[in-house]
Amino acid sequence: MEPAPVESVHVPLPGRAYDILIARDLIADAATHLTPVLKRKRVAIVTDETVSALHLATLTGALDTASVSHVALTLPAGEATKSWPYLSQTVEWLLEHKIERNDSVIALGGGVIGDLVGFACAILRRGVACIQIPTSLLAQVDSSVGGKTAINSPHGKNLIGAFHQPARVLADLSVLDTLTRRDFLAGYGEVAKYGLLGDADFFDWLEANAPAMAAGDTDARAHAVRRSCEMKAEIVTRDETEQGDRALLNLGHTFCHALEAATGYSDRLLHGEGVAIGCVLAFDLSARLGLCPQEAPSRVAAHLAQMGMRATLADIPGDLPDADALVALMAQDKKVVDGQMRYILARDIGDAFVADDVPAETVKAALTDALAAR
Ligand code: GLY
Repeated sequence: MEPAPVESVHVPLPGRAYDILIARDLIADAATHLTPVLKRKRVAIVTDETVSALHLATLTGALDTASVSHVALTLPAGEATKSWPYLSQTVEWLLEHKIERNDSVIALGGGVIGDLVGFACAILRRGVACIQIPTSLLAQVDSSVGGKTAINSPHGKNLIGAFHQPARVLADLSVLDTLTRRDFLAGYGEVAKYGLLGDADFFDWLEANAPAMAAGDTDARAHAVRRSCEMKAEIVTRDETEQGDRALLNLGHTFCHALEAATGYSDRLLHGEGVAIGCVLAFDLSARLGLCPQEAPSRVAAHLAQMGMRATLADIPGDLPDADALVALMAQDKKVVDGQMRYILARDIGDAFVADDVPAETVKAALTDALAAR
């Protein structure tokens, strides 16, 4: 059988343009897909224990066939790895292996590895090439694209970081087969976000096709990942460092960050689940403010529920703090500007915008009602 065509999305940033390749079996054929961006036939791979067991041998086998030499560092899996100690370990390991400006580092993993390794590449010798091979749906459609790299601080998530665009992204759809349904659906929260923020037709398409996509339909997966990456690429090209439109990518995230903090960044709520619930709350807030049709929030929630996803605060197990405490957690978001909260609101499905002047009492009322429905 002919292999499926490799789709690509170009990110045309001047001086640091790159391609995102999307297809099955990209890792197995990594030599073909990486050779064009390697200045030397030498790479360092950084991964985590879970991903290493599933995909590292496929990658190193592919590199061997093209005589690309490689070394690999395997870090513990989990959010705690996105921290100073592992950043320092990664950078020192890259130096020990004499990774130079002309070498490339491959981040093989989900969002944690992508963010940590991207940041290590930004600061190593003032910048070495980073190739992202995202192995979660969330990383394929969001965190591996656009150059945001970071580690967490005890003061908050992603507070220490840099913009460092990757040299190439390989979104290998085969790796999605190895995800748990919960992890896949959490990543789907970010896919739905793209339709909600800027493409009503894509959201219509998702309502019709996302169940098949979740069930494993490759064409549907390829379309959803490509459209998400195209939208991210367009926004990042307009506003790489988030002076304006890039903030739209944070639809649902202000609520999400408060909910993640309230649940201790634990298994009670995965990031993509928080984004999905946050999107419903953002549409609810928009409807309360008379900005979007009253039926939009329930249409968003109904789609997430149809996907078997968490869609409301009632779907988060365990206790949650009251509305005042959640509002206080939202105020710690790093997108607060001069003490002023910024929200991403919507005029309709597919039409989000940045709002600075949202009355705190309306936010509190939305949260109070959402908590009462638990
Ligand atoms: N994940 C949001 C952004 O890349 O801007």
